[in-house]
Amino acid sequence: MLKVENLTKSYASAGRQLTVLESVSFELQPGDTFSIVGPSGSGKTTLLGLCAGLDRASSGSVWLNGIQLDTLSEDQRAAVRNEYVGFIFQNFQLLPTLTALENVLVPLELRGIQGGEKTAQNLLERVGLAGRGHHYPTQLSGGEQQRVSLARAFANRPKILFADEPTGNLDADTSATVVELLFELNREAGTTLVLVTHDLELAAKTQRVVRIKGGTVVSDSFSDRAIAPTPTS
Ligand SMILES: Nc1ncnc2c1ncn2[C@@H]1O[C@H](COP(=O)(O)OP(=O)(O)OP(=O)(O)O)[C@@H](O)[C@H]1O
Ligand SMILES: [Mg+2]
Repeated sequence: MLKVENLTKSYASAGRQLTVLESVSFELQPGDTFSIVGPSGSGKTTLLGLCAGLDRASSGSVWLNGIQLDTLSEDQRAAVRNEYVGFIFQNFQLLPTLTALENVLVPLELRGIQGGEKTAQNLLERVGLAGRGHHYPTQLSGGEQQRVSLARAFANRPKILFADEPTGNLDADTSATVVELLFELNREAGTTLVLVTHDLELAAKTQRVVRIKGGTVVSDSFSDRAIAPTPTS
């Protein structure tokens, strides 16, 4: 489902090369659940963006569902994302001029699916925002925006879901609901989950935990507390 090989990302900064990710490799099968943990600034968001084809590596390759992303143009990568990927951004990235409901509808409309309102409304309900569909992002709290972003990421039933700190702005109860939704999607639709989190309790719920530090993998282990046995298809 996802294969990452020798992924390296550097930025030119004040005339110097700043390497934020160095030679990262791993491979995930469909339905796997996976966490990336590590200190602030260690390269987690960068890695997630490269895996999802939002950004291009300086060297190395990413295969998503068998498609080698680094050989594709920007538009081709966008098409692959729309077809297979759900993404929950650390800073939500909701479109400010659209209401919550309209934001959730975007991936469906991009796919040319008509009459997605009911699906979008159901998703908002499931994240506890049934009555807030007509509100704009600025009228929602951080945690509420995070949940809209979650509903949007679920809308096209992605084959693989990338979530950057999906519970970072939520209280314990809402966080538990969100975690339940994530693993339910994994169980019911076989969606591969790739989570970035500072919450080690959440990380331990995934089958495999990779720790990165200073842009390199320092440990890669399997959790004995993983939940959500995935369908064997
Ligand atoms: N466009 C850029 N230009 C230069 N440096 C960048 C750029 N984007 C990210 N970086 C640097 O790359 C490093 C890794 O950033 P990244 O956002 O991946 O960290 P992170 O592990 O997600 O941190 P956090 O837990 O705080 O979200 C940081 O030092 C950051 O300053
Ligand atoms: Mg980050």
